[in-house]
Amino acid sequence: MTARKIILDCDPGHDDAIAMLMAYAHPAIDLLGVTIVAGNQTLKKTVHNGLNVAQLLDMDIKLYPGMPQPLVRQQVVAGNVHGKTGLDGPVFEELKRQPEGKNGVQFIIDTLMASDGDITLVPTGPLTNIATAMRMEPLIIPKIKEIVLMGGAYGTGNFTPSAEFNIYADPEAAYVVFKSGAPIVMMGLDLTNQTVCTPDVIERMEGIGNKAGKLFGDLMRFTLKTQFEEFGLEAGPIHDATTIGYLIDPTLFDMQDMFVEVDINRGPCYGRTVCDELNVLKQTPNAKVGKKINRDGFFDLVADCIKTYK
Ligand code: RIB
Ligand code: CA
Repeated sequence: MTARKIILDCDPGHDDAIAMLMAYAHPAIDLLGVTIVAGNQTLKKTVHNGLNVAQLLDMDIKLYPGMPQPLVRQQVVAGNVHGKTGLDGPVFEELKRQPEGKNGVQFIIDTLMASDGDITLVPTGPLTNIATAMRMEPLIIPKIKEIVLMGGAYGTGNFTPSAEFNIYADPEAAYVVFKSGAPIVMMGLDLTNQTVCTPDVIERMEGIGNKAGKLFGDLMRFTLKTQFEEFGLEAGPIHDATTIGYLIDPTLFDMQDMFVEVDINRGPCYGRTVCDELNVLKQTPNAKVGKKINRDGFFDLVADCIKTYK
């Protein structure tokens, strides 16, 4: 089976780091590059965090800094969940890795335009880089094999009662992406909240006994605290990692085709992904939306990826 070529566009971020770890490790994935966007924290911090993860896990991968600000709205960050650094918890050695000089948006455009249309975009942060690439070079849209994103919800939001953070942090960018016509797989909170990393899961991954398992534990132990304080959750979900899990083994996921649009009206529903679960609008679906995950199978996949590291 040929590996799935992907660009991971992320805002590390605890769960972004797990997505990076899995995407780099699994033979079903060919990670062409990592583009970074402002989201969980400012771009300076998310780039620093991405480089730290790549350095710690000795990843032979290039990181490209992307957009530092959302398209229209004032920037919001998620320090309440990810801490001041955006990756609180693990202790990293002195950072020696450097990001690439090319902007992440340009990397996305250049890579897609040079491709045969076999590249999947995997955004796990705000969609600013993806939307900007689409606006700068609309010819990339038919070149996108699929967009497998973490974001949104057909139920309750997590940054407002209506909106999930990645969408809320740049609703206009999300609007552009969901209207683009590119095939979308949406891993929203309704699906991703099923992946809370309870202490038994953390102990399992730490017990693998390598640096990737330790990183998993250091990351997710930190979120045990913040996810409980912020949302009353017993533990932190690894939201972003579900995108990579889906690409590796889609049979672990129950999906439903839905018509999804993003509310960009300034009000209580600003940034909401309005998902037509009952198809009342009779619009052509533009997204496969995640509904249920085989939790045990997913964590087996996470463990398999961790085991590949020294
Ligand atoms: O709402 C969860 C999303 O927001 C995840 O991508 C997490 O990393 C944060 O960016
Ligand atoms: Ca993220």
